[in-house]
Formats: sequence, C-alpha cells, structure tokens
Amino acid sequence: MTDKELALLATEATKNSYSPYSEFKVGAVLLTKSGKLYTGCNIENAAFSPTVCAERVAFFKAISEGETEFFKIAVAGGKSGIITTATSPCGVCRQVMSEFCDGDFEILMVKEGNEFEKVLLKNLLPHSFSLE
Ligand code: THU
Repeated sequence: MTDKELALLATEATKNSYSPYSEFKVGAVLLTKSGKLYTGCNIENAAFSPTVCAERVAFFKAISEGETEFFKIAVAGGKSGIITTATSPCGVCRQVMSEFCDGDFEILMVKEGNEFEKVLLKNLLPHSFSLE
C-alpha cells in the first residue's frame, strides 16, 4: 500500500461522513504494523459534544479489534466533501494517537487528489502528556 493509495482511500472514506451540522466531511485510513487497514469518518451529533473525529473512529475500530501497533494514518477533509487543503488532526486526536503510537508515527494530510503533506506525530504534539 503506497502513501498515494492511502491518500485516495482517506478521500473515499469521507463519503460515509455524518456531518449535517458542520458539513465538513472527514475520512481517515489507519494502517497497522500488521498491514491491516481501518477506515473512519467523522460522526456528528445534535448535542455537538458527542461528535467524534474520523481519526478517532479509525483508531477505536482498530483497537477494539485487538490492534495495538500502528504505522501511519491518512486524513482527508473538506466542506461538502471537496478537498482542497490539508486537514490537520485536532488536539484530542493527537493525544489519542500519542497513547498508542511513538513519535515517528506518520500522518498524511491529504491536500487534493493523491497529494498530501506528511508530518510526524512528535512534530504535531511535542511534549505530550504520557504515563512516562
Ligand atoms: N474533524 C475530524 O473528523 N477530524 C479532524 O482532524 C478535524 C475535525 C471533524 C469534527 C467535526 O465533525 C468537523 O470535522 C468540523 O470540525
């Protein structure tokens, strides 16, 4: 699975987004170290705070299936599903990633089509809070 293929799959995952409030559709594809893929999309709620981001849906699906080691995640998002700029994971999602991934975990932020910007978790969340 190439990074460009992951970028396209993240865009595909935006199609299941339930986002009637923000109309901002987000998709994520998480690649485990064992080579499995887990998708996620954002799921909003009329009460707002129960809303979950695409990244956390992908992580929680994977963890609930017994996965604990992760390689990289691709994230795509845009108003009405039109992706023109990179979507950067929110602070809560960064903290969830830091619970399960080391600093070299890769985040591919899709810009358009199969174009993306790659960042490492240690650069998105320096000085993260952890058990250590
Ligand atoms: N959202 C995500 O799913 N992931 C991100 O990285 C940023 C934000 C969602 C939450 C909400 O449903 C919508 O995008 C607008 O904030």
